[in-house]
Amino acid sequence: MREILFESKHYSALVFKNETEIAHYAAGIVVNQMKNKPEFLLGLATGSSPVPFYKELIREYQAGNISFAKVNTYNLDEYYPIDPTSPQSFLGFMRENLFDHIDLPEEAIHIPRGNAPDAEEEARRYQRELNRTGGTDIQILGIGSDGHIGFNEPGDAFIYDTHVTGLTRQTIEDNSRFFEDISQVPTKALTMGIGGIMNAKMCILIATGKNKAQAIHDALKCDPTPACQGSVLQFHQNTVFLLDEDAASLL
Ligand code: GLP
Repeated sequence: MREILFESKHYSALVFKNETEIAHYAAGIVVNQMKNKPEFLLGLATGSSPVPFYKELIREYQAGNISFAKVNTYNLDEYYPIDPTSPQSFLGFMRENLFDHIDLPEEAIHIPRGNAPDAEEEARRYQRELNRTGGTDIQILGIGSDGHIGFNEPGDAFIYDTHVTGLTRQTIEDNSRFFEDISQVPTKALTMGIGGIMNAKMCILIATGKNKAQAIHDALKCDPTPACQGSVLQFHQNTVFLLDEDAASLL
């Protein structure tokens, strides 16, 4: 692993050979903190990037090293509208890739509801849940090829609270691999706003692959701008960027 420092910035990027090394490193951070605080508040992301990390958490649980019995999880986002029991929903993704394999109580799973009758009211409800936490202990993040974090898409502002958002064409195309046909990808989502992410005590952003190189460059080397939502993390107190060589190739 090698570290990339940025002139006069308080953060650095750690570059690994592959996603397996990244997963081990990320799991080491989370497991150590969970051992010190069983009532852990863990913010979660979906997509391919965190999957090897989730596999590591499952392995640590199965080895008896950690328990999720007192943990609460908070997911970044959910499509809207979508049936939360469908495999394509982010809740379905989390059950398949983590929740079904650990001892996390059902009531400890917090995620926007894709089948809520009123999307705006659901955004307000989820924000109230987040406000009650005072901020998660660790927020796991990926980053979209357009620099989005959660579903905070490129725009002309950073939106603080949980909100309903339209999905960019790029995001719909990027995420269509999880659906039978691109026409089935929802065009809207409920997303934790920048405030929920920035209130985390620590963020761990995982990015691999050439298709993330430009987003990582813009997020870490350019001045923060809503055009690249991930760049807001430059203002976060404690974010670790875990990259492979491809994702770090423009740094
Ligand atoms: C989706 C999610 C994001 C995720 C992004 C990248 O848009 N809402 O939270 O970071 O995809 O996904 P992947 O890791 O599969 O590239």
